Amino acid sequence: MFKRFMTKIYTSTSISDELAARLRAMPKVELHVHLEGATDAATVWDLAKRNKVTLPVETFTEWQRMYEFRDFDHFLDIYRLSVDCMQTAADFAFMLDRFLANQAAQNVRYCEVFLSASFMIENFPQDDVIAVLQEGIAKGKEKYDIGVRFIPDIARHLPETSFPVLDFILKGYEQGIFIGLGLGGPEVGFPPENFVEVYDAARKQGLHLVAHAGETVGAESVWGALTKLKVERIGHGVRSVEDPKLLSYLKETQTPLEVCPVSNYRLKVTPLDEPHPLRKLVDAGVYCTVNSDDPPMFSTNLNNEYLTLAQQGFSWDELWQLNLNALEASFLPEDEKAAYRANFLTFQPSNL
Ligand code: ADE
Ligand code: ZN
Repeated sequence: MFKRFMTKIYTSTSISDELAARLRAMPKVELHVHLEGATDAATVWDLAKRNKVTLPVETFTEWQRMYEFRDFDHFLDIYRLSVDCMQTAADFAFMLDRFLANQAAQNVRYCEVFLSASFMIENFPQDDVIAVLQEGIAKGKEKYDIGVRFIPDIARHLPETSFPVLDFILKGYEQGIFIGLGLGGPEVGFPPENFVEVYDAARKQGLHLVAHAGETVGAESVWGALTKLKVERIGHGVRSVEDPKLLSYLKETQTPLEVCPVSNYRLKVTPLDEPHPLRKLVDAGVYCTVNSDDPPMFSTNLNNEYLTLAQQGFSWDELWQLNLNALEASFLPEDEKAAYRANFLTFQPSNL
């Protein structure tokens, strides 16, 4: 499945079949995954045909080859091309069903999912998409036993979409489909400070607040998200390791980081021949979770994220704790969280 990339990610140890089986079987929570980025190259290719969108390549093989990203900006170009192929409510219904089937295959029981709202805010059947997502949530529970909530996000390089995105979120907020506001896209040149107004407005409406930060920009971006946007969790945040004061602050406040290891390797945030900075973050006492970001775009899935960390020396106990961290850092209401917690604690690796 992951043959496409010849690039090999750093490993320091081989792992037993038993540990691999446990990691696959463990019931999981995921807090950082993008619906559009979780849509595979073949589906995007089909949607392009269906919606008569011209991609800048002739063949599917060439399209697949475009997923070997040179850097973050190259990734974002491909991401944008993909999102442009997703146009109707039926497209989103189809993508969501495939997404949920894939999440079920990772034993994900609950996930909070980003929607790239800035890219679709114009000329988009917003009410129809909200209806489809609502149906998808119900189907996710019945068909796959997965809980799902959405966090639409603003793309930093499209600041003019900030308030239209907030309006879109508020349409689905009352119904419990949308639970918060996120901030994605290019960090370089688009600091958190540019989004204070819309975050203040979202906070007043009771929305949860998160933002990507500390991925392609260093600690100052994380400081900005924490102190100016007052977010509750940080997407990525791995470059916090560059600032000891920030590490102390994150430890003290136990602000959760949504760490996405394979994404960081694919986008060259972390060199391929180095251990992932999650080790330093965990050792510094920072509250971390494990996530897959844009799984098929990075030839990964949530199981593979945990397996990769195990191959870098993380123990079963550490990985299980990181998974429980995700449950506790989720935006689930306390009673639902307690029910998941009780269920997760019945998972006994020795029963496998
Ligand atoms: N949108 C989708 N994936 C992203 C990432 N890794 N960083 C910023 N924005 C994104
Ligand atoms: Zn992301």
